[in-house]
Amino acid sequence: MVMANLMTVFLVMEVILTGFRFGAYGLNMNYYLMSCPLMEPVVKDTLNKALQDDPTLAAGLVRMHFHDCFIEGCDGSILINSTKDNTAEKDSPANLSLRGYEVIDEIKKKLEKQCPGVVSCADILAMAARDAVFFAGGPVYDIPKGRKDGTRSKIQDTINLPSPTFNASELIRMFEQHGFSAQEMVALSGAHTLGVARCSSFKNRLTQVDTSTTLDSEFAKTLAKTCSFGDNAEHPFDATRNNFDNLYYKSLVTNNGLLTSDQTLYTNPKTRNIVNSYALNQALFFLDFQQAMVKMSMLNVKQGSMSEVRQNCHKIN
Ligand code: HEM
Ligand SMILES: *[C@@H]1O[C@H](CO)[C@@H](O)[C@H](O)[C@H]1NC(C)=O
Ligand SMILES: *[C@@H]1O[C@H](CO)[C@@H](O)[C@H](O)[C@H]1NC(C)=O
Ligand SMILES: *[C@@H]1O[C@H](CO)[C@@H](O)[C@H](O)[C@H]1NC(C)=O
Repeated sequence: MVMANLMTVFLVMEVILTGFRFGAYGLNMNYYLMSCPLMEPVVKDTLNKALQDDPTLAAGLVRMHFHDCFIEGCDGSILINSTKDNTAEKDSPANLSLRGYEVIDEIKKKLEKQCPGVVSCADILAMAARDAVFFAGGPVYDIPKGRKDGTRSKIQDTINLPSPTFNASELIRMFEQHGFSAQEMVALSGAHTLGVARCSSFKNRLTQVDTSTTLDSEFAKTLAKTCSFGDNAEHPFDATRNNFDNLYYKSLVTNNGLLTSDQTLYTNPKTRNIVNSYALNQALFFLDFQQAMVKMSMLNVKQGSMSEVRQNCHKIN
């Protein structure tokens, strides 16, 4: 009897706790099960085809999702175009070459045909980032769905994005404001196992002005050569730009990190051991990364009257 009562108490508690973690925002794993049952295969197939044509888009989508979530929550606001009265997030200098908008549009178009007005742009972006990680050889994970699209997208909100010249203390502080630990920040930075940065994002390291982080001398020469082609010349974060692996952390250990904000994770004793542990153990990195991504995908998720499911991801209904 006592046991049965205890069981009930635990069950109720379980429901309340899960309710707070997911249900509070109306998010859940099977959100579209009834309203758009073929949604997942549409997202996966469209994305797979796009990434087969251009594997570098995986990086673009993962980064776009990060920017979406860090500015006003994961509400698809990064997709909104500027209008004559409003300069949107997208047009901030911090948009720094965001890529992959066409893939989101293609998925949205197909889903609008299947189940009009049902699947939000914010969910499409979150799922595209998830599948891009998997496509590139990273961990498989699922995310809860049910995000609504926001109706605000303002250039001034992009000050919430970290700068490539931040040191570890500044990164820890900024990620803390979004509820992430130093370890989660280091794990999320591992997304830089994909993609490239332009010279304008790392040229600070080639001058005497910034000597806060160590830069391998051979690597410095390579970067200087890249920059001789101008501010928009690109350099990959690690030697396998389209593979999701732990080479990024191994590069930091040998002072081959690209941005100040990358190398500082190894320079600073507060985060160095985390970098070492991911450099030694890819499985550990994958596990921490996927957990941190799920958490990031739920930042300030929108519900209610100030949100909607956009018909066109580029404009408010
Ligand atoms: C820790 C703080 C971070 C800083 C300071 C930072 C900064 C940057 C910068 C400056 C670039 C290159 C942009 C360019 O030059 O065009 C970049 C690229 C990228 N970032 Fe981050 N980032 C951070 C964290 C993250 C996180 C948390 C993610 C995702 C979870 C992410 C995903 C990416 C990806 C995938 C690229 C490559 C994009 C491409 O090749 O198109 N970054 N980041
Ligand atoms: C990024 O912002 C610049 C203005 O700073 C704008 O010209 C460019 O079109 C934007 N890029 C994207 C992909 O929206
Ligand atoms: C990090 O940057 C901040 C702001 O520029 C500075 O005050 C601080 O001393 C730096 N910390 C380290 C460890 O370099
Ligand atoms: C948004 O902007 C892109 C290019 O910047 C353009 O191709 C697209 O048609 C625009 N969409 C809307 C709805 O304004």
